[in-house]
Amino acid sequence: VKVGVVGAGAWGKNIVRTLSELDALGAIAETNPATRAQLHETYPGVPLVEGVEELVGLVDAVAVATPAEHHFSQAKTLLEAGLDVFVEKPITLDSGDARRLADLARARGRILMVGHLLLFQPAVKRLRDVIADGLIGRLTSIHQERLGLGRARPVENVLWSLGVHDVAVILGVTESSIESVAFVGQSVLTHGVDDDTYLHIDLSGGVQAHIHNSWIWPEKRRRLTAIGTQGMLVFDELAQTLTLHRKRIDAELRNVDEGEELLAVDPGQPLTLEMEHFIACCRERKTPLTHGDHAVEVIRVLEMATRQTVTT
Ligand SMILES: NC(=O)c1ccc[n+]([C@@H]2O[C@H](COP(=O)([O-])OP(=O)(O)OC[C@H]3O[C@@H](n4cnc5c(N)ncnc54)[C@H](O)[C@@H]3O)[C@@H](O)[C@H]2O)c1
Repeated sequence: VKVGVVGAGAWGKNIVRTLSELDALGAIAETNPATRAQLHETYPGVPLVEGVEELVGLVDAVAVATPAEHHFSQAKTLLEAGLDVFVEKPITLDSGDARRLADLARARGRILMVGHLLLFQPAVKRLRDVIADGLIGRLTSIHQERLGLGRARPVENVLWSLGVHDVAVILGVTESSIESVAFVGQSVLTHGVDDDTYLHIDLSGGVQAHIHNSWIWPEKRRRLTAIGTQGMLVFDELAQTLTLHRKRIDAELRNVDEGEELLAVDPGQPLTLEMEHFIACCRERKTPLTHGDHAVEVIRVLEMATRQTVTT
């Protein structure tokens, strides 16, 4: 499977490098002439074009890594041309458009995969298995922080830019469906674009999720804490550690602390695992882990939150 890439910017260049390492890089579409010149030096022999349409006929599949506002039209063009498509997160800026892409891919028998990278972290897969195996009893809540001095974006807010990863993990890790959301955000840098957000999600089965995202924060923090009736789990994404805390409060409201255990997890390379998965799905015609319908649900949650935003 030869994969083309649209958009080799800050993130897309990592996709280009990874596909090249996997010997699957077929072509690159990039509008910026200076970036194209650099790519030509680094990847001599790889066809370089300007427009997404020019990839048709050159490759079997395409990874779209342009800014989010281009995702819908570019993915639609590629799916209609009969190509398999990987789209970076967020799939689109509108759940109706996300649904249209998922339906189009299904109708045309094409693979549609979305770049919810965290679900390819081996520790997140382990976390899902540990919860499903009942090691922490009944899951009651999940708390996520994705904070730091980050790349402030002018169109999508910090929930759409960073929190999208966390929402994707919640929907991927729990077996629950969304019942309601509550959202508070603050916009400081660009009018109407929140830089700091708190999202609370009520899931079926009484599970609650709480996500804090900010790109104006002094320390880089990426952490998921899962609380269960029999124990707790902490995934520190930066340290790449998954810790099981055998701690709880019993029926008599006494603290029970039976220590903690570092669960060994192979760190892996999430982007390599993600691209390998995309290529395998294209080759074997199987549904990706981060398929179109999952991405539609993620966008629906973000939209529910956005509807509650009051900008003065
Ligand atoms: N999965 C992750 O962890 C992760 C991390 C960062 C960014 N992203 C996502 O990747 C996407 C790109 O983000 P970025 O930070 O690399 O943006 P960027 O602005 O740095 O890069 C975008 C690139 O696309 C090119 N481009 C724009 N329009 C084009 C077009 N019509 N045809 C071809 N090329 C075009 C630009 O010239 C630029 O080089 C976003 O959706 C972002 O959310 C994902």
